[in-house]
Amino acid sequence: MKNEALEVLKNRRSIRRFKPEQISQEVLDVVLEAGTYAPTAAGTQCPVIVAVQDPDLVARLDAMNAGILNNQNISHPYYGAPTILIVLAPEDAIVPEIDCALAGGNLLNAAYAAGLGSCWIHRSREMFESAEGKALLKQWGLPDTMTAVASIALGYPDCPHPQPAPRKSSYIIKV
Ligand SMILES: Cc1cc2nc3c(=O)[nH]c(=O)nc-3n(C[C@H](O)[C@H](O)[C@H](O)COP(=O)(O)O)c2cc1C
Repeated sequence: MKNEALEVLKNRRSIRRFKPEQISQEVLDVVLEAGTYAPTAAGTQCPVIVAVQDPDLVARLDAMNAGILNNQNISHPYYGAPTILIVLAPEDAIVPEIDCALAGGNLLNAAYAAGLGSCWIHRSREMFESAEGKALLKQWGLPDTMTAVASIALGYPDCPHPQPAPRKSSYIIKV
């Protein structure tokens, strides 16, 4: 069976080098919309996706994440991506982590389908538990108690498309 959606799911890879040019609003909207169609527990649609494109704010998020990472080898954890997506949910959501992770997965796959590169970047929870992160949430009109689950570097790839690691033989068990 050959199917475009299946090809996207199989061929999406994490991209860690980006062109500096910003992505178009049209493409951004396509990706964001795909995120909103992920399943959510009880259909609550609890995630909120914040798209950050202001270069100063992107640099600030990069520095916040780097501060938590504290790894000399990775000074720019968002790899110079011109757009950062943050996926958050209210702390009292039924399963905030699961709902946001599914939305994040949709965003990554949609990004690849739309010709963009993306990479899930860890430590978003710590970023938005900090005083600086909470202040940003307030600025964005969100409760400062929201849980950030996913953050995604997004932009045009500036590298050859990576090859996937071989899949482990024990991935699937048919019983
Ligand atoms: C929960 C989660 C956290 C991740 N955090 C990071 C990260 O902080 N930095 C990074 O470069 N990649 C991160 N990744 C990307 C993984 O390293 C990547 O998905 C994995 O190596 C498989 O490669 P692929 O996405 O190209 O298939 C993360 C992925 C997930 C699912």
